[in-house]
Amino acid sequence: MFDSSSPSQSVKLVDMLSLIVARLERLDELTEEINQLAKRHVEYGVKDKHYEYVGAALIWTLHQALRNEWSAELEAAWIKCYTILADTMITAAKE
Ligand code: HEM
Repeated sequence: MFDSSSPSQSVKLVDMLSLIVARLERLDELTEEINQLAKRHVEYGVKDKHYEYVGAALIWTLHQALRNEWSAELEAAWIKCYTILADTMITAAKE
């Protein structure tokens, strides 16, 4: 599914994390943008079940990166945040 080179993938991963964090408090104001993102993901070939895999990979990656600073509280917060965004994208992809 990912056909570009790895440096570009790293930038996209950071974009994705920035998107999640920057919009945490106002995701409801960004419905249109999230809808468009969801529709682009349909074109990339992304299916509902992939959101679960990417969510697990994201949590694993953050855990590896933060090591000792990682906590159960942080994990719960990231899971909550990712789940809200993923559920919004999955719903938008069906519209
Ligand atoms: C909350 C979940 C997700 C967010 C916020 C997100 C965000 C993004 C963003 C910002 C981009 C950059 C391109 C664009 O804006 O269209 C992108 C690209 C991409 N994402 Fe996601 N994504 C999510 C979930 C997923 C999932 C579950 C998959 C499935 C494997 C996926 C696969 C891709 C692919 C294939 C690309 C294009 C990569 C390329 O052109 O090389 N994403 N994503």
